[in-house]
Amino acid sequence: MTASTTAHPEATSALGRLPQAPPCAMVLFGANGDLSHRLVVPALYNLARAKRLSDDFRLFGVDRASDETGGWIQSLREGLERFATDSSASESDEVDPDVWGWLASRMTYVQADLTESDSYIRLRDRLADVDRAAGSPQNRLYYLAVVDRLFGGIVDQLGAAGLTRQEERAWRRVIIEKPLGHDLDSAKALNAKLSATLQEDQIFRIDHFLGKETVQNILALRFANGLFEPVWNRDHIDQVQVTVAETVGVEHRAAFYERTGALRDMVPNHLFQLLSLMAMEPPTSFRADPIRDRKTELLQMVRLPAMEGPSPDVVRGQYGAGSVLGAPFRAYRAEPGVAADSPVETYVAARLFVENWRWAGVPFYLRTGKALARRWTEIAIRFRDAPVALLRSCDLQGSVPNWLVLRIQPDEGLSLEFGAKRPGPRLELGAVQMDFDYRRYFHSPPATGYETLLYDCMIGDATLFQRGDTVEAAWQVVQPVLDAWSERMPTGFPDYTAGSDGPTSGDALLARDGHAWRALP
Ligand code: BG6
Repeated sequence: MTASTTAHPEATSALGRLPQAPPCAMVLFGANGDLSHRLVVPALYNLARAKRLSDDFRLFGVDRASDETGGWIQSLREGLERFATDSSASESDEVDPDVWGWLASRMTYVQADLTESDSYIRLRDRLADVDRAAGSPQNRLYYLAVVDRLFGGIVDQLGAAGLTRQEERAWRRVIIEKPLGHDLDSAKALNAKLSATLQEDQIFRIDHFLGKETVQNILALRFANGLFEPVWNRDHIDQVQVTVAETVGVEHRAAFYERTGALRDMVPNHLFQLLSLMAMEPPTSFRADPIRDRKTELLQMVRLPAMEGPSPDVVRGQYGAGSVLGAPFRAYRAEPGVAADSPVETYVAARLFVENWRWAGVPFYLRTGKALARRWTEIAIRFRDAPVALLRSCDLQGSVPNWLVLRIQPDEGLSLEFGAKRPGPRLELGAVQMDFDYRRYFHSPPATGYETLLYDCMIGDATLFQRGDTVEAAWQVVQPVLDAWSERMPTGFPDYTAGSDGPTSGDALLARDGHAWRALP
């Protein structure tokens, strides 16, 4: 069954319906980097195309290379063209010259050494020009698209140069993106460092999963429908499975990944976003802090995973050679830049419990891995079985589990799996599915996910950004795992074949509860 195959009559460009963002001067640190080329500037371009940026928007690109504004703009344009051709986040593979011209005319490159205070004085002068031209202090958005070890230093320097001081009707905001610490202590240290200069409401911590429409939809689904919330608890739900499966391997990021591994890279951030939105209590309102309060509380109620004994609550794996989507795939340890005996995990699976009235006793199984059979992200909720024994006398054959599946990517939507009587004289059950396909129904225009995040930062809506205490609550949960793993080397790596559904240790984690992972579709 299909909910609808035609577009909703009101389907229009979501961005186009928003009011225009207030004027601001955006300073992009790391202007020559991959993040700027691949996501930030394409997202600004999409915002400009939807006419959501103010005429007084300005973009200052800051980086080390002694480039000129012209060269920088040219390389961004090439990045945008590559992006438009390769990705599903652009409506066409042509860059609209008028839109690009509009954006490019607002761009200036500033060469700077980010560790030198002089650079910030020069930047201050450039920003003062903007204020002078506008006749009043302008809003400023500092986007730190740089490696995380520079976050603290840049914010210090911005503060010392007076560039973070807010004035009446002129805000100063800072965007940073993961890694937000490498463990609980470093996450706390980063928060302390940032808050020495900035108020919490000036810090916008991106988790790009929150830019995904279907992740945001979890809240709408749960709290704007009368149907789901009454059954969203331990009385009706038997288990929850959160899967973030990737087909890519480590790609060109071996240096980063060898220090990070799957747990740090994906769990305290992306997987916990999915977990907390799925499991949090209803917020008192749909504003940023009530929602972030509930997410933080949820993470604080996750029982710390037990890591001792033969059946720990979190297991790891690493891919060996195999074939992914029909193409040969080399082992993680054979990737350039990876140690030949690397103990770094490329797969992790966890069995967690939330200790509150709603969820006591319900296992939440989380898994993520690279070089798996399919790229697939979903939250699958399994409802308790019907007491079919009562129906014995009516000769019911078979049993069909009830799953509600929230598909996050690449195929965005929702499906409900249940049993229905097969046609015919016997009372036999068949498994059927009701399906809602997000894109087909709403015809949403392609986007990077960063459009919403940048726009929300400009209008001061922090709902989709991580608060400092939420980040710490997440690290608190994974810290026992980091501790256990730092003491015990993994054995038997590699332990799953590239292109499979993951290692047997991941299966064993569920088997001990009499459960099994849903197969990757
Ligand atoms: C990033 C991780 O944060 O998220 C990557 O560092 C991972 O390792 C990526 O591949 C997944 O995001 P997406 O949006 O491609 O699913």
